[in-house]
Amino acid sequence: MTSELSRRTVLAGLGGAVALTAAARPAAATVPRDPRVERLLARMSVAEKVGQLNLVTGADNARTALAGGALGGALNVIGVPAINALQEIAVKQSPLGIPLIFGLDVIHGYTTNFPIPLAQASSFDPEVTRTEATVAAAEARASGICWAYGPMLDLARDPRWGRIAEGNGEDPYLGAKLAEAKVRGFQGDDYSADDKVAACAKHYVGYGLSEGGRDYNTADLSIEKMHNYYLPAFRAAVRAGVATVMPSFSSINGVPAHADSYTLRDVLKGLYGFDGVVVSDWGGIDQMIAWNYAADGADAARLGLSAGVDMDMVSGDFARNLAQLLASGAVSRTHLDDAVRRVLRLKYRLGLFDRPYADPAREVTAPTAATRAAARTVAGRSMVLLKNSGVLPLSTSVGAIAVVGPLGQATGDLIGCWGGAGVGSSTPPTTIVDAIRAAAPNANVTYTAGCAINSADTSGIGAAAAAASAADAVVVVVGESAVMSGENRSRSNIKLPGVQEQLVSAIAGSGKPFAVVLINGRPLDLSAVDAVAPAILEAWAPGLEGGNAIADVLFGVVNPGGKLPVTFPRSVGQIPYYYNHDNTGHPGSSQSYLDLPAGPQWAFGHGMSYTTFAIGNLTLSADHLRRSNGSVRVGVTVTNTGKRAGDEVVQLYLRDPVASIIQPIRKLRGFRRVTLDPGGSTTVEFTLTCDDVGFYDNDGRFVVENGTMEVYVGNSSDNTPLHATFTVG
Ligand code: GLC
Repeated sequence: MTSELSRRTVLAGLGGAVALTAAARPAAATVPRDPRVERLLARMSVAEKVGQLNLVTGADNARTALAGGALGGALNVIGVPAINALQEIAVKQSPLGIPLIFGLDVIHGYTTNFPIPLAQASSFDPEVTRTEATVAAAEARASGICWAYGPMLDLARDPRWGRIAEGNGEDPYLGAKLAEAKVRGFQGDDYSADDKVAACAKHYVGYGLSEGGRDYNTADLSIEKMHNYYLPAFRAAVRAGVATVMPSFSSINGVPAHADSYTLRDVLKGLYGFDGVVVSDWGGIDQMIAWNYAADGADAARLGLSAGVDMDMVSGDFARNLAQLLASGAVSRTHLDDAVRRVLRLKYRLGLFDRPYADPAREVTAPTAATRAAARTVAGRSMVLLKNSGVLPLSTSVGAIAVVGPLGQATGDLIGCWGGAGVGSSTPPTTIVDAIRAAAPNANVTYTAGCAINSADTSGIGAAAAAASAADAVVVVVGESAVMSGENRSRSNIKLPGVQEQLVSAIAGSGKPFAVVLINGRPLDLSAVDAVAPAILEAWAPGLEGGNAIADVLFGVVNPGGKLPVTFPRSVGQIPYYYNHDNTGHPGSSQSYLDLPAGPQWAFGHGMSYTTFAIGNLTLSADHLRRSNGSVRVGVTVTNTGKRAGDEVVQLYLRDPVASIIQPIRKLRGFRRVTLDPGGSTTVEFTLTCDDVGFYDNDGRFVVENGTMEVYVGNSSDNTPLHATFTVG
């Protein structure tokens, strides 16, 4: 047992962050000045400066604002002609000719729709998210959009919250790795390139804690939870060079996020040294009035700029009030100039001063074979086989297949929330039933909806059951519509909507082998489905090529290898339920209910395959991790013990049994997806450093404490049979 003193030995400055106490308020990082920016800034009037901080939506509002000489950029302007027309006014008709920046929500595709981000996170493969962002950036920039409002990095543990669909799930380590990959996909090393865009890490910070899973809501979190869970993905994005950050619609400990100087100035611009632009969310400045935090628009503008918001998206409060607030001394010239400096620097980094116009000849108007292939690969890697008693994969030589369920012929619902807005983005996906027909041309494939997605009408279930009885195999496609997740799409009940559970039960009653395919944007309560279904494939909202990718998986062309990035609870009553929960004084009872079996339906990290794997031979390079730049390498051997090639995701978790802040029972600190042929083996190695074993305390300090660290390795958070320990000190 380490002594009290040594156990609490605090070593600040690790984890890539200087010691910061909640009281400490380091000056915002001194960012090297760009002489081009400084020269331009010196020539600008107050009105011109304020104009750069104004962001409007749509071409009409942009023209109006330009006429008033007060516009920095616009969002939701689609098409090169419209964008170039506005750019020409800004560049040729304004005194300083400062180009506009054009933004858009590019969440999982611009023209080619990829699977929703929560699906991509299920791949446990940063290359998947980087690929999607790379394709999206190229399509968007070629079409005049140079700023994507993504990635969404909100850690989420509440499936009632519709926006869980847009993020990377419940784990900070996975979220940070995917954040870095997505920023690099969007921005590359130089986002002035004609196939790169400025990214936007959002929604900063703690949005996923919105009370009750209701959107736009109150969020309370301790400093240690903020730094240990909700900030890491944003820190990773900043380290990857993210160009912009967007505050959240929620509050942070009693302060609207858009007015929270601790997170915006002290942490983001100070501790993390962020030198980009903080852009408000839609009307986020003016909403401070509704939060009962600001007296009026001028007060909201003062509070927002002072707290660290640089650009006002569509509220107009900055444009209407900052000049007067500056004159009265209510806002400082330092803050105003810093905001303008950041906006100008962003535009220079985008190359807009040199190349303000998009080339009409390059505009993307439709998906290509290459982007479709990428979307199909990503969708296949993003699916999670939750259960399989042998029904899958299906044989293409099967005689008759009945496809049933309200989403079997879905198109838009395969795209999911925040579908692309680019020209050609409305290209309909191949439906699941058509994809199955194409995959099994000799089979007699029928389709019977059986019921609607969200209706009490059971009159069609009998026909679906009859179709199932007449077939050799059945595919039941159920889930949610695209408008049941995303912004302002919270659900109080996370079961399958309508009478879909009854449909599944009726198909089970047919006695025919069947598989359930889920199209959804959140974890669902599938306890009733799991009770009767022999196979369940989580396909999420799989995008433009989702139908084809589902057929690839159903027939074994692709062996599913995804894992859950978020817990599936047994019931909405368990929420919030997540794997990395704190230890408690009553480890068993604190996770259970009188009326539920213990544990989740499926745990974070869970996912099956059509083959089997063995993970063994755990080795550590050392039994001690020196705090001064030490490292411990952890190795395991993975073997494909089955008859089919497939992917496994090896997961490494830590547990700190004694610490000055209560630690989670497991925290992910390594994952690797490997592909192995039957009988193949490989060694997977993880390197642990103090960054992995330390944690933040309630003063916002990163601490590494002497003591023992437990290592667990397996293929799911609830399946880590390999165990070892090492000491830290
Ligand atoms: C929305 C969303 C945000 C989006 C922005 C612009 O309300 O909260 O994610 O980027 O407004 O559409």
